[in-house]
Amino acid sequence: MSNGMFITFEGADGCGKTTQQMLAADYLESKGYEVLITREPGAKGLGEDIRKILLDYKGPVSERCESLLFLADRAQHVDNMILPAIEKGQIVLCDRYTDSTVAYQGYGRQQNLERIKKLNDFATNLLKPDLTFVFNIDVETSMQRVGKEKDRMESEGKEFHNRVRNGYLEIAKQEPERIKVIDASMSIEEIHEEVKKVIDFYLNYGKHSQ
Ligand SMILES: Nc1ncnc2c1ncn2[C@@H]1O[C@H](COP(=O)(O)OP(=O)(O)OP(=O)(O)O)[C@@H](O)[C@H]1O
Ligand SMILES: [Mg+2]
Repeated sequence: MSNGMFITFEGADGCGKTTQQMLAADYLESKGYEVLITREPGAKGLGEDIRKILLDYKGPVSERCESLLFLADRAQHVDNMILPAIEKGQIVLCDRYTDSTVAYQGYGRQQNLERIKKLNDFATNLLKPDLTFVFNIDVETSMQRVGKEKDRMESEGKEFHNRVRNGYLEIAKQEPERIKVIDASMSIEEIHEEVKKVIDFYLNYGKHSQ
């Protein structure tokens, strides 16, 4: 058994995932933990090529193809980066993971949710995060934070992004022990305080449903 831990950061584009991931990494490192900072899609190597197709490809992309590319990237990421780090006892902080696929392809693109979940199970070999943060924010604010340069997913319409947001809230309701919803309209510091509280609780007591 290792003491590794797996934390994911989820939510709309521009909700503050990367900002909070970096602050959490600094915090955990200051407490002496070894941290792996990583992301999906496209952490490194083969994944970086898959990321380019997913976010920059200009031609039409079949929705099933899109799902399978995200999942292919995930399988590679789990086997080559996430699992080895957990086994070494590191704390893995990952920007997007399985819940993104459920929220974007399941709720956003309205693909069959059960099928998406089964494909996630296949891609991850059933590796679940210990903790997940969903940063909840209205679509207008998140789009303002993203700015003008939008990638292929970010360029989707407002209705799509609203479905994604509600999807995240629905997923969080189903797994309250793992998934913590945080109001992302607060300041960066306030959000970081909330994140720290949840992580500290987990490190001290394990899973909880507060
Ligand atoms: N709580 C906050 N209040 C105001 N601005 C914020 C907050 N959190 C992050 N930002 C700013 O919003 C922008 C987007 O933040 P960040 O890159 O962390 O989001 P993200 O969720 O990682 O976005 P993406 O999905 O595009 O990678 C950045 O300019 C960041 O400084
Ligand atoms: Mg980011």
